[in-house]
Amino acid sequence: MSDTRFDGAKVLITGGLGFIGSNLARRLVDLGAAVTLLDSLIPEYGGNLFNVDGIESRVRINISDVRDQHAMRYLIQGQDFLFNLAGQTSHMDSMQDPYTDLEINCRAQLSILEACRLHNPTVTVVFASTRQIYGRPDHLPVDEQHLLRPVDVNGINKMAGEWYHILYNNAWGIPACALRLTNTYGPRMRVKDARQTFLGLWIRLLVEDRPFEVWDGAQLRDFTYVDDAVEALLLAAAAPDGHGQVFNVGGDCVISLKQLADVLVEVNGGGRYVSRTFPGDRKRIDIGDYYADDTRIRNTLNWSPQVPLREGLSRTLTFYRQHLGKYVE
Ligand SMILES: NC(=O)c1ccc[n+]([C@@H]2O[C@H](COP(=O)([O-])OP(=O)(O)OC[C@H]3O[C@@H](n4cnc5c(N)ncnc54)[C@H](O)[C@@H]3O)[C@@H](O)[C@H]2O)c1
Repeated sequence: MSDTRFDGAKVLITGGLGFIGSNLARRLVDLGAAVTLLDSLIPEYGGNLFNVDGIESRVRINISDVRDQHAMRYLIQGQDFLFNLAGQTSHMDSMQDPYTDLEINCRAQLSILEACRLHNPTVTVVFASTRQIYGRPDHLPVDEQHLLRPVDVNGINKMAGEWYHILYNNAWGIPACALRLTNTYGPRMRVKDARQTFLGLWIRLLVEDRPFEVWDGAQLRDFTYVDDAVEALLLAAAAPDGHGQVFNVGGDCVISLKQLADVLVEVNGGGRYVSRTFPGDRKRIDIGDYYADDTRIRNTLNWSPQVPLREGLSRTLTFYRQHLGKYVE
C-alpha cells in the first residue's frame, strides 16, 4: 500500500513479538511509523525476540501483559493506532485451562478498550479476530452473516473480544474494526509445536527430515500468507469505511489438508507424512471444512491476496531452513 498515513504515526502492537505482530512491525517501521511492541513473552505462546531480529533498534519493546491495566493505561497514551493482536491462540489449551483464555482473550480486551476510552479515545484500533468464532459452518463459503457458534472456549472468548471492539466503536466512537483471520502462515510463525497451527509443526518436522502427521486429510481450508494478512491489517486501520465492521480474510485458494501436505512435500523437494484418524480430544472441537467468503474486504478495502500458496510455502520453508534453531530452542 502506498498510503503515507503511517509515516511518523505512533503505533502500538499488542502481541508485537508474535508471528503476525512482528511481521506487521517490520512493515510499519519501513513505512516510517514509531512502533511500540507490547508482549508478555509467555513461553507457550508465539512471542520470540528473534522475530524482531534486524529491527530491534527501530522499535520500542515493552515486555508486559495486556491483563495489566496499569501498563495498558500508560502504553495507550499518545498512540495513533493500536493493532490489538495479543492472544492465547491454542484451542486445546483453551479447553484445558479456560480461565486463562478468558482473562486474555476476553477480560483483557475489555480493559484495553477501557484504557482507550479513558486515556486515548481517538486511537484507531484493529483487532485480530478469527474464523474460529463461526464454529462448524452451516454452508460454504462462510460470509460475515454466518451464525457465530464457536465450538471451543477460545472461539467464545475471541467472539466476545471482537464484539467489545465493535461495541466501543458504536457506543463510544472509538474507531475500531476486526479482521476474522483464517489460517495464517509464513516466516516467524510458531513451529515448536501445534499450539498456533498444525502447519507450523508440519514445517518444523519437514525441515528436520522427520515425518509429520495428517489427521483425516479431507478437511478443506484456506490459508493466508502473512504479508497478505499484514496488508489487510494496514488497510483496515487506514480506511474510515471499515470502522465498526468485521471482515473475513481468506486465502488465494481452497485446499484439503491432504493436498496441502502433498504441495508442502513437493515444494520442499521431498519429505514424508503419515495419515491418521482424527484424535478423539481434537475431534470434539473440530470445525470440519472452512473457507471464507471475503468479498466484503475485497470490495470495501480493496484487499486481495497477493502471495499464492506455493510461493508462500516456499518462502516459509526457506526461512526455517535458515533459522529453525531460533524457534525450537
Ligand atoms: N495465526 C493464525 O492463523 C491466526 C488465525 C486467526 C486469528 N489469529 C489471531 O491473531 C493474533 C496474533 O496471532 P499470531 O498467530 O501472531 O500468534 P502469536 O502467538 O505468535 O502472537 C500472539 C502474541 O501475543 C502475545 N501474548 C499472549 N498473551 C499475552 C498477554 N497476556 N499479554 C501480552 N502479550 C500476550 C504472545 O506472547 C504472542 O507473541 C491472535 O490474537 C490470534 O488469535 C491468528
